[in-house]
Amino acid sequence: MIEMTNSIVDRTDFNGRVAIVLGSGLGDFADNLSKKTIIPYGDIPGYPQPTVEGHAGELVFGELAGIPVLGAKGRFHFYEGYDFNTVTLPIQLFHKLGVNALIVTNAAGSTRLSMPPGSLMALTGHMDGTFRNGPEDPKIVTGDPFHSPQLLTLAQSAFKKSVVDLAEGIYCWTMGPGYETPDEIKYFRNLGADAVGMSTVPELQAAAKFGLPAIGISCITNFASGITDQPLSHQEVMDTAEAVKEKFTRSIIELIINIGRELNL
Ligand code: HPA
Repeated sequence: MIEMTNSIVDRTDFNGRVAIVLGSGLGDFADNLSKKTIIPYGDIPGYPQPTVEGHAGELVFGELAGIPVLGAKGRFHFYEGYDFNTVTLPIQLFHKLGVNALIVTNAAGSTRLSMPPGSLMALTGHMDGTFRNGPEDPKIVTGDPFHSPQLLTLAQSAFKKSVVDLAEGIYCWTMGPGYETPDEIKYFRNLGADAVGMSTVPELQAAAKFGLPAIGISCITNFASGITDQPLSHQEVMDTAEAVKEKFTRSIIELIINIGRELNL
């Protein structure tokens, strides 16, 4: 970890404030940063390479309206075979680099007809639907320390200013790598899940451990399995993410400006 952190400190003068994990739909977000330094994951000692299509592996350091921002393009999922430590490595690194606020974005399927593909959803809570620890029903966890109420308020005002609707809901982390079955989705929905996806919860858990305020925001790319009779496809996920990109990017820029102002960065 120290070697990893030093390799970055040696190459940037990042005075790290806001970090963002860029999921589907925000892959090009870092193009908006000025004074960029790009560090490919392959150049960071001990850092793994992501294997999923559509997830390039690099850290992008830069500024947005004068606010130091660090973007992680490409993340590590459990379904790729990584352990918790590896999946959360970017968050550990952000913490070491002195980041004070974290935005974690992802693509997710909606369990609600009222939240169609193209919607954006702030996480007010999550549940762990991976069944890694046994067969007990997943429990909903809301608010602090995983879902910063302060960042949620800043996101609400940023989206309002951008004239982009922001839904709110509970994100269920599923193991993947395949999409869920209709029965699994019914089960999670009955327990209170509004969206399902294969990432983000480990990252929010790691941030909470460090006391790093975080917000998760999902790009709803599809209806979850069985919600409509349309079959699910990775292509639909990629196509919706592409279609949402512009409004998602605009709103997140506004959010970072809000965070910068609020935290006096
Ligand atoms: N399920 C799980 N992960 C996802 C989905 C989904 O429906 N859509 C995008 N990521």
